[in-house]
Amino acid sequence: MTTPTTPRTVLITGGNRGIGYAIAEEFVAQGHRVAVTARSGQGPEGTLTVQADVTDAASIDAAFTRVEEELGPIEVVVANAGITRDTLLLRMSEDDFTEVIDTNLTGAFRIVKRAAKGMLKARFGRIVLISSVVGLYGSPGQVNYSSSKAALVGFARSITRELGARNITANVVAPGFIETDMTAELPEAQQAEYKKSIPAARYGTAAEVAKAVAWLASDDAAYISGAVIPVDGGLGMGH
Ligand SMILES: NC(=O)c1ccc[n+]([C@@H]2O[C@H](COP(=O)([O-])OP(=O)(O)OC[C@H]3O[C@@H](n4cnc5c(N)ncnc54)[C@H](OP(=O)(O)O)[C@@H]3O)[C@@H](O)[C@H]2O)c1
Repeated sequence: MTTPTTPRTVLITGGNRGIGYAIAEEFVAQGHRVAVTARSGQGPEGTLTVQADVTDAASIDAAFTRVEEELGPIEVVVANAGITRDTLLLRMSEDDFTEVIDTNLTGAFRIVKRAAKGMLKARFGRIVLISSVVGLYGSPGQVNYSSSKAALVGFARSITRELGARNITANVVAPGFIETDMTAELPEAQQAEYKKSIPAARYGTAAEVAKAVAWLASDDAAYISGAVIPVDGGLGMGH
């Protein structure tokens, strides 16, 4: 039987649209206290929106402080904010590479480091990092993006070894192709090609990713850490 989940204070980065927005909606629906960071726009109804850019540690610190003051210590953190700068290796500039790493990987580091302080004090924490199927599967034109997403696996596993004894878990959710602004930007021919390779023969929804994230943060997932949970319609099996 499913255990009723304890209400938690949750912070999600990039909660103003796409997958982050859906994750915030799911946590609100499950009765948690939810804050989202945004550079512009707002999180869904029932959330506290705070301004933060994940490439700027000072803005993250200020956002965390405000959430802690208004909602209490942050118990669940979801590092979701991410970008792509797709192009083939020989055309990829060093800036294309480092900007993606700075947002997707170092951004997650900044968020988790700030969150870990309170989690250690509380002897409770749930960390969920949003990776991608292409982190382990690879993808032409995404050397920067797939590197940043693959690195999140080592990150979560190292946190698990470092903080696991303090009742803190760290897991990775690896979505496949999900209907969002990020995939809408892909040319139609490429989208059709991708759908052919997905065993489920369709894109996923942001809500389907959100369910997995919320479950990892729930009381039922207390003994799961360092895992990579694919939400990809079977695309990445074994990767
Ligand atoms: N869509 C997919 O098929 C797919 C598949 C696998 C993994 N993912 C991953 O899932 C996550 C969410 O993707 P999505 O599809 O929802 O993307 P999206 O619709 O493009 O939204 C990206 C979110 O990240 C935020 N963000 C980007 N750079 C930021 C920064 N420097 N500081 C703070 N926030 C920043 C954006 O804020 P602004 O609105 O201010 O730009 C936005 O809220 C990403 O990590 C992505 O890599 C997506």
